[in-house]
Amino acid sequence: MSDIATNSQAKSAAAQPVFEPWNDPDAKPLIQFRDVTKRFGDFTAIDTLTIDIFEQEFFALLGPSGCGKTTLMRMLAGFETPTEGHILLGGEQIDHVPPNKRAVNMMFQSYALFPHLSVWENIAFGLKREGKDSAFIDARVEEMLRLTRLERFAKRKPHQISGGQRQRVALARSLAKAPKLLLLDEPLGALDRKLREETQFELMDIQEKTGTTFVIVTHDQEEAMTVASRVAVMDEGRIVQVATPAVIYEAPNSVYVADFIGDVNLLRGAATARSTPAPPEQTAVAEAPAPAEPLLESAAPLPTPQDRTPQPNAAGAWLHDRFLTRILGPRPDAVKRLPPPDHAAPAKTAETPPKPDRTAPQDIPEGGIEIARGEGQPPLIAAAADPALAGKPVVLALRPEKVSISRERPATHNALQGKVIDIAYLGNVSTYHVELQDGQMIKAQMANTRRIARRDITWEDTVWVGFSATAGVVLEE
Ligand SMILES: Nc1ncnc2c1ncn2[C@@H]1O[C@H](COP(=O)(O)OP(=O)(O)OP(=O)(O)O)[C@@H](O)[C@H]1O
Ligand SMILES: [Mg+2]
Repeated sequence: MSDIATNSQAKSAAAQPVFEPWNDPDAKPLIQFRDVTKRFGDFTAIDTLTIDIFEQEFFALLGPSGCGKTTLMRMLAGFETPTEGHILLGGEQIDHVPPNKRAVNMMFQSYALFPHLSVWENIAFGLKREGKDSAFIDARVEEMLRLTRLERFAKRKPHQISGGQRQRVALARSLAKAPKLLLLDEPLGALDRKLREETQFELMDIQEKTGTTFVIVTHDQEEAMTVASRVAVMDEGRIVQVATPAVIYEAPNSVYVADFIGDVNLLRGAATARSTPAPPEQTAVAEAPAPAEPLLESAAPLPTPQDRTPQPNAAGAWLHDRFLTRILGPRPDAVKRLPPPDHAAPAKTAETPPKPDRTAPQDIPEGGIEIARGEGQPPLIAAAADPALAGKPVVLALRPEKVSISRERPATHNALQGKVIDIAYLGNVSTYHVELQDGQMIKAQMANTRRIARRDITWEDTVWVGFSATAGVVLEE
């Protein structure tokens, strides 16, 4: 998930100039919800909701089932009328403008294609109704077919194609009219992961090329993080937080958002102000600097002479490195020949020369709070936290990828001992579930940068989990 957050940061950083109209006091929003409430009988589906969405935004609505995402979109498209409050489009109040008079197109969560029309005709339908000339329609439909990779199915009827293909037809149909504002309710839900990712990039591309404003509902957080300029996280008819994907991920404003987006560890405790610098870490680890990378690989013992296999001759080595590596991976001896000066490796032996103490109190960022946990548990240091939280019950929200796991006590500002209960191997990363001494479970995630990771740490092992004083976000309970 952090990759995704970083990607979208990179995406917005690359755009010239940076696209963030929501920070520009002079920017005029395209869509404005002003204290909008929608009730069905005595049930409140949308609760005094206020939000601005700007032209050319790719705006994602995220939230659990039933929180009001579709209702919000249906009001925007004109299929529902707010019970209270107003909706403005381009500064004009549109509460009573019928759907077909709004420059808005909506692809419904349960879209329906015309069963008696071919794929081609389904996509052309709206254009024909608008009275476009046939050359224009031909070109436009071909373009949409290409975009959604449906060229081969143009002549088929909806019942002759798969569910994912039908969804792409619906998407092509809603894009064909090039609306100014496109509302997409779970547009990619029926696509397999790979096609879904490709279509996400196509959507971003279309969005950039056409300047369309997109509002998308998705249950897939990664999708929201990938495509969106901003994400709104909803709960029971309200918006809990609206921000860029990176902010939503790295600085959630509540336990609800932290817990809803991505994987997170929630460590509860009582906050106290950090008046005095934290005591130095245990001397036993004073030599070990905080590892830049997770320790799992580097903690493996260096090869002993007995480990070495016979060395290939020069020709054999060349042959292996040039061709066989692709199939067999690097030569095991080649790996073993390389015990580099590994600054990331934890102190293993008495011979290791002393290294500077990275966890001396002066090195821990000042300020913030300490979080007292159960008896016998060391307090957690959260240097970036608001000291005003002192005296309150708080939750430290900590992403698993910010937690390291090692056999030796790490030199990070926070270090807790526990036992490995479970290991989930996810291909690119492994997640270790560690039970702390007070019974709390904590997840530590590590990138599998080598093809066959040495399973140095395994089930039931006693390990340390570590994280820096700025790794987490402290939230009020
Ligand atoms: N016409 C209706 N009459 C009564 N209740 C409704 C109506 N439409 C929606 N609701 C209720 O309003 C709430 C919000 O529904 P909505 O369809 O907006 O949810 P959603 O966030 O889109 O959920 P999902 O992710 O499951 O699609 C739900 O509790 C739903 O039951
Ligand atoms: Mg819905």
